[in-house]
Amino acid sequence: MSEVSLPRVCFATLLTTDSYLHGALTLAASLRETGTKYKIICLVAEGQLSKPALERLSSAFDRVVSVPVLDTHDYANLALLGRPDLGATVTKIAVWSLTEYDRVAFLDADTLVLEPIDSILENAADGSGSGGRPNGGMQNEGLLAAAPDLGWPDCFNSGVFVAKPSESTHANLLKMLATQGSFDGGDQGLLNAYFNDWSRADHTHRLPFSYNTTSTSFYTYAPAFARFSSDIKVVHFIGPHKPWKHQRLITGYIMGNSKGLSKFVEKWWHIHDAHVSFWSPGILFDKLIALSLSDSFKPVTEEAAEEVVAIGSHAMDDSWKRDGSDYLSVDESRATANDDWGSFTPAPDFMLSSGSSSPTRSTGSPRSS
Ligand code: GLC
Ligand code: MN
Repeated sequence: MSEVSLPRVCFATLLTTDSYLHGALTLAASLRETGTKYKIICLVAEGQLSKPALERLSSAFDRVVSVPVLDTHDYANLALLGRPDLGATVTKIAVWSLTEYDRVAFLDADTLVLEPIDSILENAADGSGSGGRPNGGMQNEGLLAAAPDLGWPDCFNSGVFVAKPSESTHANLLKMLATQGSFDGGDQGLLNAYFNDWSRADHTHRLPFSYNTTSTSFYTYAPAFARFSSDIKVVHFIGPHKPWKHQRLITGYIMGNSKGLSKFVEKWWHIHDAHVSFWSPGILFDKLIALSLSDSFKPVTEEAAEEVVAIGSHAMDDSWKRDGSDYLSVDESRATANDDWGSFTPAPDFMLSSGSSSPTRSTGSPRSS
């Protein structure tokens, strides 16, 4: 009997710190729940994750690939973004080095898959373009499809995209990182600078927004959310608040219970509890309260949440009530950037040496200049 050979494609995510572990595990479980026929791999920043975290990843993913850690250390632009913790996300460009695959569908660890999405690995632009334009109208090769970013829709959001790995694209991205950096200090600024004509390319390069529905859309365009929310295939919990960063019972509240997001936060917890761990990555307190309230966990109510908040929590940041934004001011973001669960391992000291073609690892010795 001959085996049916699958195309050389896969889903991938990236972890640069233990603090996103439950995000990655829940993402993988959500993708498996859709019955995907493709492999799911996890890129891990070399030397950054604990042994227990790596063990969990090895059993949840088909493959764990260690990749060199990169970091912009560009605190000025990261401050503009309001996320000082995102410098190491440029490690993501390792996706283009995975030349054993023809296509890689990348999903951030803070995404949750709700519906089957295998088709993005099958139907995404193949680079030839449908309108007869070479490479579908894009100057640089390597990006097959992405969805717009809500903050600046001529940019794509780099939390979900389909890439065509290639040595030369990878080398070009490393070079751009070393010579120009990233305009937002993270991967999205770099990738949008490299693939800067994405918004003018043929439609085959554009993923529907339902493949990367960023959580801010729930309150920036509520009527569209009401109209299209049943189409959402991938929800992306952007911003500093993540489901796993708060106790279960108050997550929906913290992340905007009244704004439509809570059902997706509930879904995240449902998949987390069923496949990753019964225990919250936060403290157990929330689960105990939930058990005492009902036989099964009920959706969060504002009153219940308020009560828990009143009792006390590490997650008492109410900044979302003030500005309704996912991107906080730098000070607010700093206050929430570090988790208080899991072992947060700071990235080692990497610096971009100007003029060199690739970012270099600094040695333990003091910098000479
Ligand atoms: C956006 C993207 C995310 C990226 C960040 C920094 O939030 O969704 O993937 O890491 O920008 O560039
Ligand atoms: Mn993200």
